Amino acid sequence: MNYLLIILLLGIIGFFIGKFIKHKSLYPFMPFRYDFRKRRDTFKKTLALLDRIQARVIIETGTSREGLHGAKSNGAATIVFGKWAKLNNAFLHSVDISEQSVAAAQAEVDKQGLQTHVQIHLSDSLVYLNDFKEPVDFLYLDSYDYSKDIEVQQKSQEHHLKEFIAIEAHLHENSLVLIDDCDLPNGGKGKLVVDYMLKKDWKLVMNEYQILLARTNFTV
Ligand SMILES: C[S@@+](CC[C@H](N)C(=O)[O-])C[C@H]1O[C@@H](n2cnc3c(N)ncnc32)[C@H](O)[C@@H]1O
Repeated sequence: MNYLLIILLLGIIGFFIGKFIKHKSLYPFMPFRYDFRKRRDTFKKTLALLDRIQARVIIETGTSREGLHGAKSNGAATIVFGKWAKLNNAFLHSVDISEQSVAAAQAEVDKQGLQTHVQIHLSDSLVYLNDFKEPVDFLYLDSYDYSKDIEVQQKSQEHHLKEFIAIEAHLHENSLVLIDDCDLPNGGKGKLVVDYMLKKDWKLVMNEYQILLARTNFTV
Protein backbone atom coordinates (compact mmCIF):
# COMPACT_ATOMS: atom_id res chain seq x y z
CA MET A 1 0.00 0.00 0.00
CA ASN A 2 2.80 2.39 1.04
CA TYR A 3 4.72 1.51 -2.11
CA LEU A 4 1.71 2.38 -4.23
CA LEU A 5 1.41 5.74 -2.49
CA ILE A 6 5.10 6.50 -3.04
CA ILE A 7 4.85 5.59 -6.73
CA LEU A 8 1.78 7.78 -7.09
CA LEU A 9 3.52 10.71 -5.36
CA LEU A 10 6.62 10.29 -7.53
CA GLY A 11 4.39 10.23 -10.62
CA ILE A 12 2.69 13.46 -9.58
CA ILE A 13 6.02 15.14 -8.78
CA GLY A 14 7.43 13.94 -12.14
CA PHE A 15 4.41 15.31 -13.95
CA PHE A 16 4.88 18.78 -12.43
CA ILE A 17 8.65 18.76 -13.02
CA GLY A 18 7.99 17.84 -16.66
CA LYS A 19 5.49 20.65 -16.99
CA PHE A 20 7.94 23.11 -15.41
CA ILE A 21 10.77 22.09 -17.76
CA LYS A 22 8.53 22.46 -20.84
CA HIS A 23 7.17 25.81 -19.67
CA LYS A 24 8.87 28.58 -21.65
CA SER A 25 8.00 31.97 -20.30
CA LEU A 26 9.14 35.41 -21.38
CA TYR A 27 9.53 36.41 -17.73
CA PRO A 28 10.24 39.13 -16.63
CA PHE A 29 9.00 40.81 -19.82
CA MET A 30 5.65 38.96 -19.62
CA PRO A 31 4.13 37.35 -16.50
CA PHE A 32 5.69 33.95 -15.78
CA ARG A 33 2.40 32.01 -16.14
CA TYR A 34 2.21 32.57 -19.91
CA ASP A 35 3.90 29.75 -21.82
CA PHE A 36 5.25 30.86 -25.22
CA ARG A 37 6.63 27.37 -25.86
CA LYS A 38 7.98 26.98 -29.42
CA ARG A 39 8.03 30.75 -30.01
CA ARG A 40 9.77 31.79 -26.79
CA ASP A 41 13.35 31.87 -28.07
CA THR A 42 12.56 33.61 -31.36
CA PHE A 43 10.41 36.17 -29.53
CA LYS A 44 13.21 36.74 -27.04
CA LYS A 45 15.79 37.29 -29.77
CA THR A 46 13.41 39.53 -31.72
CA LEU A 47 12.70 41.67 -28.63
CA ALA A 48 16.45 42.07 -28.03
CA LEU A 49 16.98 43.13 -31.65
CA LEU A 50 14.01 45.52 -31.51
CA ASP A 51 15.75 47.19 -28.56
CA ARG A 52 18.94 47.42 -30.59
CA ILE A 53 17.45 48.88 -33.76
CA GLN A 54 15.17 51.14 -31.71
CA ALA A 55 12.19 50.08 -33.78
CA ARG A 56 9.41 52.63 -34.15
CA VAL A 57 6.97 51.06 -36.62
CA ILE A 58 5.86 47.45 -36.32
CA ILE A 59 3.36 45.63 -38.53
CA GLU A 60 1.76 42.31 -37.69
CA THR A 61 -0.46 40.45 -40.17
CA GLY A 62 -2.99 38.24 -38.38
CA THR A 63 -3.94 39.51 -34.95
CA SER A 64 -4.09 37.82 -31.52
CA ARG A 65 -7.57 36.34 -31.77
CA GLU A 66 -7.11 34.43 -28.52
CA GLY A 67 -5.59 37.32 -26.61
CA LEU A 68 -2.80 36.63 -24.18
CA HIS A 69 -4.29 33.23 -23.34
CA GLY A 70 -3.29 32.16 -26.85
CA ALA A 71 0.41 32.48 -25.93
CA LYS A 72 1.01 28.76 -26.43
CA SER A 73 -1.33 28.19 -29.40
CA ASN A 74 -1.29 31.33 -31.56
CA GLY A 75 1.58 33.26 -29.99
CA ALA A 76 -0.16 36.35 -28.56
CA ALA A 77 2.27 38.48 -30.57
CA THR A 78 -0.06 41.49 -30.63
CA ILE A 79 0.26 41.72 -26.87
CA VAL A 80 3.98 40.87 -26.71
CA PHE A 81 5.04 43.35 -29.40
CA GLY A 82 2.33 45.81 -28.33
CA LYS A 83 3.78 45.83 -24.84
CA TRP A 84 7.26 46.30 -26.24
CA ALA A 85 5.92 49.19 -28.35
CA LYS A 86 4.37 50.85 -25.31
CA LEU A 87 7.57 50.55 -23.27
CA ASN A 88 9.70 51.86 -26.14
CA ASN A 89 7.59 54.62 -27.62
CA ALA A 90 6.93 52.63 -30.78
CA PHE A 91 3.67 51.71 -32.54
CA LEU A 92 2.23 48.38 -33.57
CA HIS A 93 -0.25 48.05 -36.42
CA SER A 94 -1.95 44.67 -36.41
CA VAL A 95 -4.17 43.84 -39.39
CA ASP A 96 -6.76 41.08 -39.65
CA ILE A 97 -9.53 40.20 -42.09
CA SER A 98 -11.87 38.69 -39.46
CA GLU A 99 -14.21 40.88 -37.42
CA GLN A 100 -14.20 38.26 -34.69
CA SER A 101 -10.39 38.17 -34.45
CA VAL A 102 -10.20 41.96 -34.43
CA ALA A 103 -12.81 42.22 -31.65
CA ALA A 104 -11.08 39.61 -29.49
CA ALA A 105 -7.63 41.16 -29.97
CA GLN A 106 -8.99 44.65 -29.32
CA ALA A 107 -10.53 43.47 -26.04
CA GLU A 108 -7.15 42.12 -24.91
CA VAL A 109 -5.30 45.25 -26.05
CA ASP A 110 -7.76 47.33 -23.97
CA LYS A 111 -7.44 45.00 -21.00
CA GLN A 112 -3.65 45.30 -21.11
CA GLY A 113 -3.81 49.10 -21.51
CA LEU A 114 -1.98 49.09 -24.85
CA GLN A 115 -4.46 51.21 -26.87
CA THR A 116 -2.07 54.17 -27.09
CA HIS A 117 0.55 52.07 -28.87
CA VAL A 118 -1.43 49.44 -30.76
CA GLN A 119 -4.00 49.82 -33.50
CA ILE A 120 -5.87 46.84 -34.85
CA HIS A 121 -7.11 47.26 -38.41
CA LEU A 122 -9.95 45.30 -39.98
CA SER A 123 -8.77 44.62 -43.53
CA ASP A 124 -7.30 42.09 -45.87
CA SER A 125 -3.58 42.27 -45.13
CA LEU A 126 -2.64 42.73 -48.80
CA VAL A 127 -4.92 45.75 -49.18
CA TYR A 128 -3.57 47.19 -45.93
CA LEU A 129 0.11 46.63 -46.75
CA ASN A 130 -0.26 48.01 -50.27
CA ASP A 131 -1.65 51.24 -48.80
CA PHE A 132 0.93 51.56 -46.02
CA LYS A 133 3.10 54.67 -46.39
CA GLU A 134 5.76 54.68 -43.63
CA PRO A 135 9.08 52.83 -43.31
CA VAL A 136 8.64 49.58 -41.38
CA ASP A 137 11.20 48.53 -38.75
CA PHE A 138 9.73 45.15 -37.92
CA LEU A 139 7.36 43.00 -39.95
CA TYR A 140 5.65 39.97 -38.41
CA LEU A 141 3.85 37.70 -40.88
CA ASP A 142 1.21 35.44 -39.34
CA SER A 143 -2.08 35.67 -41.23
CA TYR A 144 -3.62 33.09 -43.62
CA ASP A 145 -3.95 29.94 -41.45
CA TYR A 146 -1.86 26.94 -42.46
CA SER A 147 -3.49 23.50 -42.36
CA LYS A 148 -3.02 19.85 -43.31
CA ASP A 149 -4.79 20.46 -46.63
CA ILE A 150 -2.17 20.83 -49.40
CA GLU A 151 -4.24 23.39 -51.29
CA VAL A 152 -4.62 25.54 -48.15
CA GLN A 153 -0.89 25.20 -47.48
CA GLN A 154 -0.06 26.54 -50.95
CA LYS A 155 -2.54 29.42 -50.62
CA SER A 156 -1.13 30.32 -47.21
CA GLN A 157 2.44 30.25 -48.55
CA GLU A 158 1.50 32.38 -51.56
CA HIS A 159 -0.35 34.85 -49.33
CA HIS A 160 2.64 35.35 -47.04
CA LEU A 161 4.91 35.87 -50.04
CA LYS A 162 2.48 38.47 -51.43
CA GLU A 163 2.39 40.22 -48.05
CA PHE A 164 6.16 40.57 -48.05
CA ILE A 165 6.25 41.82 -51.64
CA ALA A 166 3.50 44.35 -50.86
CA ILE A 167 5.59 46.00 -48.10
CA GLU A 168 9.11 45.17 -49.32
CA ALA A 169 9.88 48.70 -50.54
CA HIS A 170 9.21 50.04 -47.01
CA LEU A 171 11.82 47.84 -45.35
CA HIS A 172 15.21 49.41 -44.67
CA GLU A 173 18.77 48.30 -43.84
CA ASN A 174 17.96 47.49 -40.20
CA SER A 175 14.48 46.08 -40.66
CA LEU A 176 13.65 42.69 -39.20
CA VAL A 177 11.15 40.14 -40.47
CA LEU A 178 9.70 37.31 -38.39
CA ILE A 179 7.48 34.62 -39.90
CA ASP A 180 5.30 32.32 -37.81
CA ASP A 181 4.35 28.66 -38.23
CA CYS A 182 7.33 27.66 -40.38
CA ASP A 183 8.49 24.33 -38.95
CA LEU A 184 5.48 22.46 -40.35
CA PRO A 185 4.98 19.85 -43.11
CA ASN A 186 5.86 21.24 -46.56
CA GLY A 187 7.60 24.30 -45.15
CA GLY A 188 4.83 26.12 -43.32
CA LYS A 189 3.80 29.72 -43.89
CA GLY A 190 7.35 30.85 -44.64
CA LYS A 191 8.31 28.47 -47.45
CA LEU A 192 7.92 30.78 -50.45
CA VAL A 193 8.65 34.06 -48.72
CA VAL A 194 11.86 32.80 -47.11
CA ASP A 195 13.06 31.38 -50.47
CA TYR A 196 12.29 34.73 -52.07
CA MET A 197 14.08 36.72 -49.34
CA LEU A 198 17.18 34.53 -49.36
CA LYS A 199 17.57 35.13 -53.10
CA LYS A 200 17.66 38.84 -52.27
CA ASP A 201 19.76 40.53 -49.57
CA TRP A 202 18.26 38.80 -46.53
CA LYS A 203 19.74 36.19 -44.22
CA LEU A 204 18.46 33.82 -41.56
CA VAL A 205 19.00 34.97 -38.01
CA MET A 206 17.02 32.13 -36.40
CA ASN A 207 15.40 29.15 -38.04
CA GLU A 208 13.05 27.43 -35.62
CA TYR A 209 9.27 27.13 -35.44
CA GLN A 210 9.44 30.79 -36.44
CA ILE A 211 12.01 32.18 -38.86
CA LEU A 212 13.71 35.49 -38.14
CA LEU A 213 15.48 37.33 -40.97
CA ALA A 214 17.61 40.45 -41.29
CA ARG A 215 19.58 42.04 -44.13
CA THR A 216 22.82 40.28 -45.02
CA ASN A 217 24.85 43.29 -43.77
CA PHE A 218 23.11 43.35 -40.41
CA THR A 219 25.38 42.28 -37.55
CA VAL A 220 23.51 39.93 -35.28
C1 LIG B 1 -2.74 32.51 -36.42
S1 LIG B 1 -3.84 33.85 -36.30
C2 LIG B 1 -2.80 35.17 -35.86
C3 LIG B 1 -2.21 34.99 -34.50
C4 LIG B 1 -1.50 36.21 -33.93
N1 LIG B 1 -0.46 36.70 -34.80
C5 LIG B 1 -0.92 35.91 -32.57
O1 LIG B 1 0.32 35.96 -32.41
O2 LIG B 1 -1.69 35.62 -31.65
C6 LIG B 1 -4.19 34.13 -37.97
C7 LIG B 1 -5.14 35.31 -38.21
O3 LIG B 1 -4.97 35.69 -39.60
C8 LIG B 1 -6.18 36.20 -40.05
N2 LIG B 1 -6.18 36.22 -41.52
C9 LIG B 1 -6.39 35.19 -42.38
N3 LIG B 1 -6.34 35.62 -43.66
C10 LIG B 1 -6.08 36.95 -43.61
C11 LIG B 1 -5.92 37.97 -44.59
N4 LIG B 1 -6.00 37.71 -45.88
N5 LIG B 1 -5.66 39.23 -44.16
C12 LIG B 1 -5.56 39.51 -42.84
N6 LIG B 1 -5.72 38.60 -41.88
C13 LIG B 1 -5.99 37.33 -42.24
C14 LIG B 1 -7.23 35.30 -39.41
O4 LIG B 1 -8.47 35.95 -39.35
C15 LIG B 1 -6.62 35.03 -38.03
O5 LIG B 1 -7.18 35.87 -37.05
